[in-house]
Amino acid sequence: MRVTRRGLLAGAAAGALGATGIYELVDRLATSPQRAAARDLLPEQHLLDLRVVHDDGIAVVVPPLHHQLVTGTVATGDLRSAQHELEHALADLDERFAPTAAGLGVTVAWGLPYFLGHVPAAWAEHAPFDRRAQKPALLPAIRFPSDPRSTVLEENDVAVLMRSDSLEHVSAAAKRLFDDLKLFEVTTIRKGFAGGGFEGRQSLPKRMATAANVPGADLIPDTAELFLGFTSTQSANLGPGRIANLETLGYTDAAGGYFHGGTHMHVSHIFEDLEAWFLNFDFQQRVDTVFRPGLKVREDAQTVAQGAARASSASGVKRDFRRRGRIGHSSSIQPTSRLERDTVGHDGDVYRKGTAIPQRVDFNTLDNPFFWSRDGVDQAASAGVHFVVFNPSSDDFHRNRLAMDGVLPDGTRLPLAPGSRAQGLNSVLHTTHRQNFLVPPRRHRSFPLAEL
Ligand code: HEM
Repeated sequence: MRVTRRGLLAGAAAGALGATGIYELVDRLATSPQRAAARDLLPEQHLLDLRVVHDDGIAVVVPPLHHQLVTGTVATGDLRSAQHELEHALADLDERFAPTAAGLGVTVAWGLPYFLGHVPAAWAEHAPFDRRAQKPALLPAIRFPSDPRSTVLEENDVAVLMRSDSLEHVSAAAKRLFDDLKLFEVTTIRKGFAGGGFEGRQSLPKRMATAANVPGADLIPDTAELFLGFTSTQSANLGPGRIANLETLGYTDAAGGYFHGGTHMHVSHIFEDLEAWFLNFDFQQRVDTVFRPGLKVREDAQTVAQGAARASSASGVKRDFRRRGRIGHSSSIQPTSRLERDTVGHDGDVYRKGTAIPQRVDFNTLDNPFFWSRDGVDQAASAGVHFVVFNPSSDDFHRNRLAMDGVLPDGTRLPLAPGSRAQGLNSVLHTTHRQNFLVPPRRHRSFPLAEL
């Protein structure tokens, strides 16, 4: 049933911020993971200290159970006092909740429409520039070769990502920032969950998809971290520490500037066709598609080693394509997602060749396509992912996403028909929305540049 809410009272969004809907089940279906004691607040807003467990002997990061991402537009003309109000509310949340997954992680990100529409002069002076790409570090979102023409390129001013093992903490933060404060008009509310299955019991995605009765739920392996059946948070394929900061690898000129300690965030929503995935692809074909064509792993394995030494090169991806006529999801991305050489970061840390750069913080969802939207949502649950990732710049994200479609960093375009099975995961994915954001460092998280 399609419910169009445009024109209804803003109260509808307010109600949806704290509403739990089907996600209330997460708390009944999963126990909160053990977490380390709280640490001091980091200068970065996007980093959250997460526990690592071993699955099949492979180190895996345990993501927070609950996620909510709210987008909006600025609804006030007085940015200076808005800056104080929002910072005050964020500082309140910092005091109430530890900056861990057991407490709360809040990441406030700002879109190009905010910078260009509200603080254009200061933005012209302070916008970080991507020296490698010779383009601004924050670019408008683009459609990729495998995107349908219907993919919406969004124009929000702000996006706030809230993460915690406690649904209550996430709801309290959403209400505090978007309901108590009247600074934003909410455009969308997106909710979802991650993890919960590493202890060998039936996993959260399996149980949630089953409870929501989405087509193909019965086909999801019992302990899968993702609806599509494989673990995606191996430590080795997530960027470590500050690597995705704007300044760390020197891709941008942010070092020492206003945005030092910030990062870039891409947000998209992707529908997943579970039935097509599990019925049309056998296990080996799913391994070929997610990892690398021809990779041999134990039958029904879910967590597969992806250490630096195993990362694919562009020539390896081309060779696999010549031999087998297809590309894998991870292997095609690795020529851009991994460091090509040992690198000393601006932070003084040494990042070895083969280290992953992007920090993916995506989460499973049953939203269709959102939990709530100004433009209406479909009430029927649908399996998907709210894809959220931190990279050092928009261009860095675009390189990764293009590689996923067979457009390699050296300019080679592998001849893949959009949506064909040869094109990795894309044949079972459908991206509905995209936008790029800049995440300022914590000290400038509230209405960045408004004070200048
Ligand atoms: C529903 C959609 C998606 C699913 C189910 C999915 C699943 C996975 C899985 C299971 C892995 C881990 C594989 C491994 O260990 O090598 C992975 C890795 C990765 N994925 Fe995705 N993915 C999805 C969408 C995306 C998108 C849209 C991007 C954007 C570029 C992306 C970027 C990456 C990256 C960068 C890696 C790590 C590659 C590496 O450095 O090893 N994924 N994904």
